Amino acid sequence: MNSFRERVTQLFQDTFDEQPKFIVRAPGRVNLLGEHVDYNDGFVLPAAIDRAVWIAFTAAPSPHSTLVAVDLDERVSFSSETIPAKTDLDGKPLPHWAKYPVGCAWALNDAGYETPALNAVFTSDVPRGSGLSSSAAVEMAFISAWQALAGFEADAMARAQLGQRAENLYVGVNCGIMDQFASACGKRDHALFLDCRSLEWHTVPLPDGVAIVVADTAVPRSLSDSAYNERRSACEEAARLFGAKSLRDVSVAEFQRNKNKLPELVARRAQHVVEEIQRTEQAVFLLKQGNVRAFGRLMNECHESLRDLYEVSCPELDVMVRIARSLDGCYGARLTGAGFGGCTVNLVAHSEAEAFATGLASRYTRETDKNPSVYICRAEAGAGMV
Ligand code: GLA
Repeated sequence: MNSFRERVTQLFQDTFDEQPKFIVRAPGRVNLLGEHVDYNDGFVLPAAIDRAVWIAFTAAPSPHSTLVAVDLDERVSFSSETIPAKTDLDGKPLPHWAKYPVGCAWALNDAGYETPALNAVFTSDVPRGSGLSSSAAVEMAFISAWQALAGFEADAMARAQLGQRAENLYVGVNCGIMDQFASACGKRDHALFLDCRSLEWHTVPLPDGVAIVVADTAVPRSLSDSAYNERRSACEEAARLFGAKSLRDVSVAEFQRNKNKLPELVARRAQHVVEEIQRTEQAVFLLKQGNVRAFGRLMNECHESLRDLYEVSCPELDVMVRIARSLDGCYGARLTGAGFGGCTVNLVAHSEAEAFATGLASRYTRETDKNPSVYICRAEAGAGMV
């Protein structure tokens, strides 16, 4: 962590020729269970991870904010008085990465918060497009930065909701609340249990002796936006046919009794959701008991359900999961995040984690000819000043 702090400080110094006044950090996340249920008012169980976005910043002397994305070697300037249209910055298209911070300024202003002009440099070690929520981390980092300058009251959940609004309405991605929530509310060595309907949440200590291992298939998430929206529509249709506000209100028993009334594809999508909501409720109970074996079995069931019913896996994710389960110390393995590429999450005995990571990477390369990245993660604190 310290090295990142020094790096971003130096980058700011190189760019703006002075020391930054503030530094914020906002983590990516991995989801342990509760996949594709946040937009169905269900339960999720993510954790913030030790990979993060770092911003060094200072109040700007002019009315313009200047944001420098050092990893991409790009910068934008804009004024909060005239937030650029999503696709236009002084007649040029807004670069994709810039839609996230600019969208956060838009969401903050729209909610009545000030976004004083800032000079900012940011960098990140959350892999992009891998399903570890690099964008939610950017959002939570910039919202924290503007909060530090403006001093407005907004707790971590309120900041998460502002980030989600920026992503839904400004960037135009129809995500749920899970990613921003995890980045905002993370706690070291804990998972986070969230009821996406009431937004009540609590932390759950991760049992001693287990490691969370994330394995990136090196398959970029493709087609994910359109397929994600199709899944959402199928869930909405199912809820409507059940006469329910959302699939959260449909029990597994009720689903079984009435599933014949749904079109076949819609029924499969809905089955994943109603069972996954139940699974996540059971899983959090098992985690609190330290029953990692039973918890891991539910992770495995989740993967099968995402693969066969929700159809958001891909061959490489399935290979990664199959190899993981054959290695010593693995309690459970499944795809994490939206799917269609990206990462798997594995619950592994701590004593075996190093050997597991090495074995998984080499066998995956042998079978697929792709170079995966495998990280042993630590659950970390959520976004904030450092
Ligand atoms: C993406 C979305 C989240 C959630 C997951 C699937 O990460 O941003 O809101 O829906 O997919 O669980």
